[in-house]
Amino acid sequence: MSFLTLTSIQKSFGPVQVVKDFNMDIEKGEFVSFLGPSGCGKTTILRMIAGFETPTGGNIEIGGKSQQNLKPNQRNIGMVFQAYALFPNMNVADNVAFGLKIAGMPKAQIDARVKEMLGLIHLGHLADRFPYQMSGGQQQRVALARALAPKPQVLLLDEPLSALDAKIRVSLREEIRMIQQQLGITTVFVTHDQEEALSISDRIVVMNAGRADQIGTPFEIYNKPATRFVASFVGTLNLIEAKVVDPASNRISIGDQGITLREPLGSVKAGDTVSLALRPEAGSIAEGAKGDTALTGEVVSSNFLGSVIRTRMKVGNAVISFDMFNAPGLTPPAVGETVTLRFTASDLLIIRE
Ligand SMILES: Nc1ncnc2c1ncn2[C@@H]1O[C@H](COP(=O)(O)OP(=O)(O)OP(=O)(O)O)[C@@H](O)[C@H]1O
Ligand SMILES: [Mg+2]
Repeated sequence: MSFLTLTSIQKSFGPVQVVKDFNMDIEKGEFVSFLGPSGCGKTTILRMIAGFETPTGGNIEIGGKSQQNLKPNQRNIGMVFQAYALFPNMNVADNVAFGLKIAGMPKAQIDARVKEMLGLIHLGHLADRFPYQMSGGQQQRVALARALAPKPQVLLLDEPLSALDAKIRVSLREEIRMIQQQLGITTVFVTHDQEEALSISDRIVVMNAGRADQIGTPFEIYNKPATRFVASFVGTLNLIEAKVVDPASNRISIGDQGITLREPLGSVKAGDTVSLALRPEAGSIAEGAKGDTALTGEVVSSNFLGSVIRTRMKVGNAVISFDMFNAPGLTPPAVGETVTLRFTASDLLIIRE
């Protein structure tokens, strides 16, 4: 049974509807990421769950209980924000103890709980420091400990890593995931970083202009994008316009090169245009590369990105990117060279929406 249920949630600010009929069931202990571009309504949904905003329509339930008439402090929810929101005039221990003091917990219990929380985030040795004496990553770990100290039933994280540098982001996101699993706490994590969402979530909600375009596991979202928006927002992707040659045999052409798709084309006719998606990692130009399908084109650019080399080639009017893993002794294709990319026909997804 779902633990956190959002049913037909809507939110308008004046005449502008920023959340449109949002539905989701989140299981107890699940880690769900809301992924979407700036302004799509992620923070607004989080604030409605926390009780800082009132939905214009719909219902939010936690553990079978409607949250409609509950104030934020009655919902038992922990929240961490993008900007460090620690109390600047309190040291680390007092920051973590804050919610417990408000709840009227006896001092000895507070001290024990603060110690336990600081142990969880490996900052026991910094209990006396003030926020200005700590790095951004350390401050966000304290913010996490503060949110978790009162044993909330739901943890909400609104882009908690976005102000940190790349290396710290990766280590801290793994730490957050480990702590979340250790405590088994139901968590909603907001991000616009697709790699972050893919790497730590049980499920991802890809949001597009106030709606969920797709809800699924990271594997499903990446490999079976439901819409054009999801396909292009999550990961790097080639969106290729192809011409239908023969719908009965799933035959299409890209430029003047014919390809037989695995997926049925559906109700289209010869001469129609269809959109196809192909991930850059799907194919290979290596000698003896496997695949039942090939596209030949002229290399227009080749960029060394570290672990991969991303090459773009022109096929008819389409420019198709593909990746090769870096290896000592590898010679990247030269601009102007003609190469053949081999892949399996099932790697070409038809994008219908
Ligand atoms: N209090 C408010 N009054 C009016 N409009 C608001 C208010 N809060 C948010 N909005 C608008 O609602 C839309 C969604 O905002 P929201 O903060 O939920 O986006 P977001 O997905 O969290 O974006 P970001 O990734 O930039 O944080 C935006 O267009 C924003 O301007
Ligand atoms: Mg936001």
